[in-house]
Amino acid sequence: MKQEHIPVLLAEVVKYLNLKKGSVIIDCTLGGAGHAKAILRAIKPSGFLLGIDQDEMAINRAKKELSSFSQQIKLVKDSFTNLDEILMRDGFQKVDGVLFDLGVSSFQFDFPERGFSYRFDAPLDMRMDTSQKLTACDVVNTYSKDELTSLISQYGEEKWASRIASFVVETRRRRMIQTTFELVDIIKEAIPASARRKGGHPAKRTFQAIRIEVNGELDSLEKGLRSAIRWLKTGGRLVVISYQSLEDRIVKNIFKDYSKGCICPPEMPICVCGRKPITKILTKKPIKPSEGEKERNPRSKSAKLRVAEKS
Ligand SMILES: C[S@@+](CC[C@H](N)C(=O)[O-])C[C@H]1O[C@@H](n2cnc3c(N)ncnc32)[C@H](O)[C@@H]1O
Repeated sequence: MKQEHIPVLLAEVVKYLNLKKGSVIIDCTLGGAGHAKAILRAIKPSGFLLGIDQDEMAINRAKKELSSFSQQIKLVKDSFTNLDEILMRDGFQKVDGVLFDLGVSSFQFDFPERGFSYRFDAPLDMRMDTSQKLTACDVVNTYSKDELTSLISQYGEEKWASRIASFVVETRRRRMIQTTFELVDIIKEAIPASARRKGGHPAKRTFQAIRIEVNGELDSLEKGLRSAIRWLKTGGRLVVISYQSLEDRIVKNIFKDYSKGCICPPEMPICVCGRKPITKILTKKPIKPSEGEKERNPRSKSAKLRVAEKS
């Protein structure tokens, strides 16, 4: 059953972006355009929204969804890792706010043929940008056992990573692994029955790991966040929603790094580094969805929202 698309932490995003009529905002992860629409309502008639998504399907859906705001938007199919190039090419000046709502959107999960979901049988794909070459099928069938172990363990935080990698390598000696359900069966075989009963669907962590690898999600995030901070005006806000601990750690560390002032050794009588904080963290602890939101929208369950303001 397809789930209705509900934007996560919508009221909090609108509040923390500190939207005003005339604000210029970048939505780096347009997806189903739920956040974008609320942003546009708050900044109209003179505001402007640049929407970016690396998934062509998202851009096409967003065009329809936002058709009544056509004078106030520009939608670009690209990765937010190229934010500097996109903004320079389009002649942008500094902006009032940037939003990242990370991960995969409901419609990407709900289209079985995209291969993101372990609940539907489909070719192993998982590419957000379908023009890219590397697919989940390539990762599963060509990476060495050590590479698979390391990515499943690191990106999936899966303690059975080494066994899963061994079972994958063993299977592909006999045949190519082509579909999501073939991979789910291999994962189920690799994880002992007693462990399979805990911690959600047994394929969840491995699928997450392969998806992160296919889409280079963590590297893109780091680069995208650094660019976003550079493009903010003084007082401009960066709002990031992450859904898993690896992403959240990157966001937290970058925020911490940019909010640091003087880094002189403590024995220095006066500051010689001259370093000033570039941003101020507005959320000491991440904001999480209420129980009510988690119930209405199960996809929001693991969401964490962090906000930084440019100094
Ligand atoms: C959780 S959804 C965003 C949902 C959106 N905020 C809404 O209200 O509908 C994440 C979106 O980010 C896109 N995305 C993920 N990584 C990206 C990247 N590096 N560059 C551009 N888009 C990316 C995905 O294709 C997906 O459509």
